[in-house]
Parts: sequence; structure tokens; C-alpha cells
Amino acid sequence: MRERIKQYIDEIHGMVFDAQMRESDYIELFRARYLGKKGLINALFEQFKTLPSDEKKEVGRMLNELKNEAQNKIEELRAMVETQHDAPHDLDLTLPTTFSEIGSRHVLSVVMNEIIEIFSRIGFTVAESVEIEDDWHLFSALNFPVDHPARDMQDTFFVEKTEGRQEVALRTHTSSVQVRVMENNKPPIRIIAPGRVFRNEAISARAHCIFHQVEALYVDKKVSFADLKQTLIYFAKEMFGSETQIRLRPSYFPFTEPSAEMDISCNICGGKGCNICKGTGWLEILGCGMVDPNVLESCGIDSKEYSGFALGMGVERMAMLKYQVKDLRLYFENDIRFLKQFDAVL
Ligand code: DAH
Repeated sequence: MRERIKQYIDEIHGMVFDAQMRESDYIELFRARYLGKKGLINALFEQFKTLPSDEKKEVGRMLNELKNEAQNKIEELRAMVETQHDAPHDLDLTLPTTFSEIGSRHVLSVVMNEIIEIFSRIGFTVAESVEIEDDWHLFSALNFPVDHPARDMQDTFFVEKTEGRQEVALRTHTSSVQVRVMENNKPPIRIIAPGRVFRNEAISARAHCIFHQVEALYVDKKVSFADLKQTLIYFAKEMFGSETQIRLRPSYFPFTEPSAEMDISCNICGGKGCNICKGTGWLEILGCGMVDPNVLESCGIDSKEYSGFALGMGVERMAMLKYQVKDLRLYFENDIRFLKQFDAVL
């Protein structure tokens, strides 16, 4: 019995004020448990009657102590609840507030908007189109040969691949927007198409199954390679600084002829050679070329009257070079520590 009384006293001591005591009838339940008619203390008093008289003095003292402890605790808790209710009256409205944190644009949006802005200053307007495309707009109209590897399951996420029907896939590049725009508009055409693209790649630091591209297309009478080159020089200097040099390397894309890849002088080491440019002094930036006459014809544009240039670039790569992001996965993980680094960039 002495043990039990000690245990109850400890239990009562251990009770601390808790916000939930305010909402519920917590304190009343506590009172009933110890001091109620059928509570623990009354039960102990019943038991007390049966004790031998030599024990009664000591146990009686302990029982009274338990009863006092329980009563005091209840009063203490009730007082706490009262003062908590009064708390709003103590509110000091002159204290400075805490500011909620302001979010920031994702670095890919920042870079994408920058590219859009640079091109819009020389008359390009934004064109958008679907992310789920058919074979015609993705490949055939863009002069892809039937056996081109991009038409393979390995590279492309097919939504529908049914024998004898138009195949449907997640777009692998924004070049499909070129076709949609040329089919629906007459030259002069001057558009940029920013957007999300999808490829069947294993995710690593250097590859991802989702990424972003910006495509540019200019079609008019007498558009020449010189126009393309001037546009590229303008873009490189606006994007990476006025010191930036460009170089064009011959390349191949089914939808352009001739085709080229553009490098810029490394903006990290200024062309001297560093680990970002792998010692070459140059960074590969984008693909471009003169729109293949077959593509113009496929889209209903007379290739004898009109010519054009096109270019396409990866937004993740641009952001990587501008802000030295070393791992592509960071763009999609939404780790607040990564995102917050760009909150000063608007
Ligand atoms: N569509 C190409 C790709 O995804 C990029 C590209 C290259 C676009 C050359 C163009 C171009 O418009 O002219 O790799």
C-alpha cells in the first residue's frame, strides 16, 4: 500500500501543463481519477480501514499527503488554464512581426526567361505547343529517315505504338514546334519555342529523362547563314557577356542543311582552359543550321521563295554553365538549399 501511495504521488508530481488541457475536460478527468467518489484515493481510504493499528499512523499521514498533492495539482492546473485564456490580453501589437519567407523562381525559369527576353529584343515571339506529339511533327516532317535511332524505343517514350497507325510519343525535342508553326503561319516567321522535352535516358548527373529546350526559327525571303551567325553572336554576348567569342563546327541534323554546332569561349577561364571546358577553352552550347528545304516543303512553304534558320539549345546546360551547377538532378529534386541560392536572381 505504501508503494502504491508513493507511485501516485510521483505520478501527480509528473503532471505538467499542456495546451490540450485547455480544450478538453482533461483536468476534470484527472480530478475524478484521484479525488472522485470512486477514485483511487477513496479506494485507498477503504483499504486503510483494514490495516493493523500500528501501521495506521504512518499510512494515514501518507494518504493525507497524497490527497493534498492531488488537490494542489488540480488548483495549479486550473490556474494555468485561466492565465492561458488571458494571454491574448497581453498581446503586444508594437512588437516587430516575423516575416513569412518569400519564395523564388526556379533557376530553369530564370534562365528560360532570360533566353526569351534576349530573342524578343530582336523580334522573336514565343510559340508554344503540345508535349505529346505524333510522328509527323516529331520526326517525319523534320526529315528524319525511317531508320533514325530517335524513332527507336530506346530514345523515345512512346505513348502509343500501334502497327500501321500514326505513332504518338512524348516530344523528344522542341523542333516539333517549328513544324506546327510553319504549317499554320505564312512567312515571315520569327519564333522561339521554350518547353519541356522527354527522353528515355537513365537518370544521372549528366542525363535526365525530362529536360528543357528553347528552339528558335526564322523563315523569310533571303534568310542566309550570315543572319544565323549574327543572331548567334548577339545571343552569346547577351547571355554570357560581351567578351564572349563563338565558333561554329560543322555538324549534322536531319532538319537543317548545312548544320552546325556552336561553342562559346569558356566564360569561366576566359578561354585559357579549365576543368569546366576540359582544357579546350570552348563550351558546346547549341545546335543550328539552315532549315532543310524538305522541311519547308513538308510544312507547305515554298522552298524556292523562302529560306530560314533554326537553332535549339538545352536550358539545363545553359543554367549549368551560367551558375556552375554540376549535377542535372539538382534541378528536379526541389531541395530548398539548392533553390534558395538563386533567390537573388530574378
Ligand atoms: N532538336 C535538336 C536536339 O534536340 C537541337 C537542334 C539542333 C535544334 C539544330 C535545331 C537545330 O533547331 O537547328 O538535339
